[in-house]
Amino acid sequence: QIDEYILAIESSCDETSVAIVKNGEAILSNIVASQIKSHQRFGGVVPEVASRHHVEQITICLEEALEEAGIAPEELTAVAVTYGPGLVGALLIGLSAAKAFAWAHGLPLIPVNHMAGHIYAARLTQPLKFPLMALLVSGGHTELVYMVEDGSYQIIGETRDDAAGEAYDKVGRVLGLPYPSGKEIDRLAHEGEDIFHFPRAMIKEDNFDFSFSGLKSAFINLVHNAQQRDEELDSKDLAASFQASVIEVLVTKTLRACQNYPVYQLIIAGGVAANQGLRDAMQQTLEEQMPDLTLIIPPLRLCGDNAAMIGAAAHVELRKQHTAAMDLNAEPSAAF
Ligand code: KG4
Ligand code: ZN
Repeated sequence: QIDEYILAIESSCDETSVAIVKNGEAILSNIVASQIKSHQRFGGVVPEVASRHHVEQITICLEEALEEAGIAPEELTAVAVTYGPGLVGALLIGLSAAKAFAWAHGLPLIPVNHMAGHIYAARLTQPLKFPLMALLVSGGHTELVYMVEDGSYQIIGETRDDAAGEAYDKVGRVLGLPYPSGKEIDRLAHEGEDIFHFPRAMIKEDNFDFSFSGLKSAFINLVHNAQQRDEELDSKDLAASFQASVIEVLVTKTLRACQNYPVYQLIIAGGVAANQGLRDAMQQTLEEQMPDLTLIIPPLRLCGDNAAMIGAAAHVELRKQHTAAMDLNAEPSAAF
């Protein structure tokens, strides 16, 4: 069997990334150009700023990815690109680059869903065994996805309001932390204690859905009320209390999902999967309650947005011959 080399492009939000992935499982290169510094002073990602950065970075990343992998365009099997979900202008830059490269080199074009990419980051760490459960936690999504085979996605639960990462970022703003604040809250949480006992929304409800907006409001109200009394609450304890609530809900609901569906593996994916508290809690809970279930959490560099995960997901699409024509468009709210 001949080896497959996919050049993958990701530009859905604020990272420009190009990777070369071999057979859907080995990373030959994974160049990530982050724009975070340019967005921080605005307290969030500014779509127009993101698009402009992608335009500047995409060709540089593409050349670096090929060079680092030691692969010539003639050796490639296909070009993969994120078509959504994401910011429309940002997506269009990646799509244009992918189409141009594919057309110039006579390569097939593979459209990849960004969230499928987050899940398939797991295959870059170890082989997958189906059926499996994936907890997707990012800045825009919080979902439990049941997969009976490659490329089959059944959403069994999701957030009714804010995504987990979104809650982290909004709470971080109240604490005066730079965007995105998940990582810093995670760090502070490890130095504080859960003394505020925020609500654990929907934890007892017999479904696999989540809600984080009530927690966010409880947090903001507590801080504002304290400010009105000229009282300052300890941000470490605030962070620890917030994080304890998020983690307990995520772990409880995910465990319940794994107990209700036959699964060999549990994948935790997306930017919030970088959370050390979540990683530790999930591992400990599974060891105690479901020791036979294999937990896969990609290393930190593969939890955030990157093109290698897009290349891993593209491998599945290519085997199903899911290729796109040159009129492929961006889908800002693409679903699985
Ligand atoms: O997957 P991602 O890089 O972009 C999206 O597709 O949304 O996720 C970004 C989100 C942000 O909300 C960020 O605050 C959060 O992931 N995040 C974290 C941590 N690192 C990143 N949240 C909690 N703990 C972390 N260590
Ligand atoms: Zn993402």
